[in-house]
Amino acid sequence: MAAWIWIFIILAGGLFALKIIYVLSIALVLPITQGALYVSTSRAKIAAFINAVPMKADQMLVDLGCGDGRVLREVQKRYGVRTVGYEINPLAYLKARLFSFGPNRIQIRCQNFWEADLSEADVVFCYLYPDVMKKLASKLVAGLKPGAVVVSSNFSLPGFVPSKVLRLERSLHNDPIYIYHLK
Ligand SMILES: C[S@@+](CC[C@H](N)C(=O)[O-])C[C@H]1O[C@@H](n2cnc3c(N)ncnc32)[C@H](O)[C@@H]1O
Repeated sequence: MAAWIWIFIILAGGLFALKIIYVLSIALVLPITQGALYVSTSRAKIAAFINAVPMKADQMLVDLGCGDGRVLREVQKRYGVRTVGYEINPLAYLKARLFSFGPNRIQIRCQNFWEADLSEADVVFCYLYPDVMKKLASKLVAGLKPGAVVVSSNFSLPGFVPSKVLRLERSLHNDPIYIYHLK
């Protein structure tokens, strides 16, 4: 068989295997994530919220379900803050660890965030799904310190009025970003 056919078979096989691993990693943790699949927030949306929520270097941001850790890295890079991400999907967790490797103030925990202690967090970021937002609101109210900021990508926190709603002026990635200042 010609060499290019072998190359094509190997590349196609590799891509297929990656897709299977992606689907399996999502299926494995579905009972815990309850529909909040591993999908990343766009760079443009991350930049928009970083501009809107200034942070000081001694503060801490937590991403509940950090995916590949891109929010942690961008915030850390911009403000030098300590960032902590919780991620239960093994594939996303490994990617986050790999991409965030090195001397920095980024911590990624392979842990269910419902068990996380949020008392030190100054800013909490999340991109989860409507099914869990009510339960999340209760956890945030019970666990966060007064004055903490919550940033929710795409879905609002039921029962809370956002202090700001960001929306990019473009046809793609223009879902809302809700910003809340907890009393
Ligand atoms: C829509 S993705 C968002 C990823 C990342 N925050 C971002 O914006 O790019 C939601 C992530 O939350 C994770 N997740 C959902 N429920 C979780 C839980 N209870 N504990 C830890 N991670 C969870 C999922 O595995 C998924 O990777």
